[in-house]
Amino acid sequence: TVFETSQEGAIYVAHEIAELIRAKQAKGKQAVLGLATGSSPIGVYQELVRLHREEGLSFQNVVTFNLDEYYPMQPDELQSYVYFMHEQLFDHVDIRPENVHIPDGTLPIEQVKAYCQAYDKLIEACGGLDLQLLGIGRTGHIGFNEPGSASTSTTRLVKLDPLTITDAAKDFIKEEYVPLRALTMGVGTITKARQIILLAWGEGKAKILKETVEGKISDAVPASFLQQHPHTRVVVDQWAALEL
Ligand code: GLP
Repeated sequence: TVFETSQEGAIYVAHEIAELIRAKQAKGKQAVLGLATGSSPIGVYQELVRLHREEGLSFQNVVTFNLDEYYPMQPDELQSYVYFMHEQLFDHVDIRPENVHIPDGTLPIEQVKAYCQAYDKLIEACGGLDLQLLGIGRTGHIGFNEPGSASTSTTRLVKLDPLTITDAAKDFIKEEYVPLRALTMGVGTITKARQIILLAWGEGKAKILKETVEGKISDAVPASFLQQHPHTRVVVDQWAALEL
């Protein structure tokens, strides 16, 4: 779906999410959301906060799993995705703290593998993701699944692509301060979600968006695996759609 502006697209997506939360609430069930960081979902979170404040949207029945986190990373660092999620969404709505899950960037390396396996198991134990929200990196990554990530990959520790490190430098003052690794849900974890919404705004995403939507399905562009998912929607502004 192409919107004229990213703001219109973000509002549309926030309303889809709100509808899902309310539909689950009406049935007395939890809504299990996979959430993303980066600049792309900020407008969606702003609208969700507005819906909470002005229209009584409650997050009491919402369980969230974030896609990724830098490794290593302390939760109180400005660049952490824990910090980001609290600042953008969690601190402004009535979500229960025990329902929030974000990969833990503080773990000793020898605990990471078991932790990642447990993260995937917990998603399953909560009934699976009802909806996964995604941005896209210029490498074609979703979460931090860089080129070479298998379609069946699960949550794990990965090395960041040099282009991703360059793009992240704006948040870390200098490129050499960007962590070299991250924890990320796998492509297989993401594509188990019953519904996926990929967001892309701005001309900088036009080329990779074309490869994602119209290109060959291949691990060279991990986001292209979404072509095989029956309920994925791609929500873009006119600039990201330029090459489609
Ligand atoms: C980071 C995140 C991704 C996100 C990407 C794009 O790499 N790990 O999940 O999609 O950035 O960021 P932006 O939305 O700022 O373009």
